[in-house]
Amino acid sequence: MTPDERSVLPAHEDKTRVVRAMFDDIAPRYELVNRVMTFGLDASWRRRAVRSLGLPAGSRILDLACGTGDLSRTATAQGLVPIGADLSFGMLGASHGTGPLVQADASALPLGDGSVDGLICGYALRNFTDLAASLHEMGRVVRPGGRISLLEVAAPTNSVLLAGYKIWFERAVPLIGGLLSDRAAYRYLPASTAYLPTSDQLRFMLLDAGFSGINHRQLTAGLSQLVTATRRPQG
Ligand SMILES: C[S@@+](CC[C@H](N)C(=O)[O-])C[C@H]1O[C@@H](n2cnc3c(N)ncnc32)[C@H](O)[C@@H]1O
Repeated sequence: MTPDERSVLPAHEDKTRVVRAMFDDIAPRYELVNRVMTFGLDASWRRRAVRSLGLPAGSRILDLACGTGDLSRTATAQGLVPIGADLSFGMLGASHGTGPLVQADASALPLGDGSVDGLICGYALRNFTDLAASLHEMGRVVRPGGRISLLEVAAPTNSVLLAGYKIWFERAVPLIGGLLSDRAAYRYLPASTAYLPTSDQLRFMLLDAGFSGINHRQLTAGLSQLVTATRRPQG
């Protein structure tokens, strides 16, 4: 973690409270800023993430850290039946056109064992205070043979693209976020990538949480990353 990231990111013991308050604040303009920040590319990443579940129409899925429900709406459009869970009442309150919603922390989900066929989670892993516990909860609520699809930000590996990406995310995004919404929050969001595990670390954590068939791919020249996996049969 760089000194700059450290100055923006909350201490571990404050993270849940700070993250919840931040998303409560930015909820009303969250989707607008998202579209501007990603030039609208996030819509195609969301469609890809839902399609990658490979589940038949009618399957029941959890949209974990559902925010304002963008992924849930994408899932509904593909014939799936989502339930949304999120830490922030503000984000849940700004959600529209989705299925049932519940306020919950990803590390303690109010759902039964094996109660969903699949799970999607968009741009939230780096916000969780306890990522390992949250992955274990995914493994608990998804039925054996069920699928998960995790979408996250990434940094391109190509050096020219990476230079442009850094200018955009580290300088332009906080400015635009400040104009349209809340500057502190849009300084946190790019810095919070420091919380993300490496691909190998995430693979190990998913294996430990009961998943197999882990597939990790970069989307749009590495601007986003998608991880899919299958819940192993128990025993
Ligand atoms: C960047 S937003 C992503 C929202 C939505 N998934 C999307 O794709 O637009 C991150 C979301 O994670 C939620 N979140 C953060 N920490 C959480 C936690 N510990 N448990 C559940 N949700 C959490 C926030 O409230 C916020 O809605």
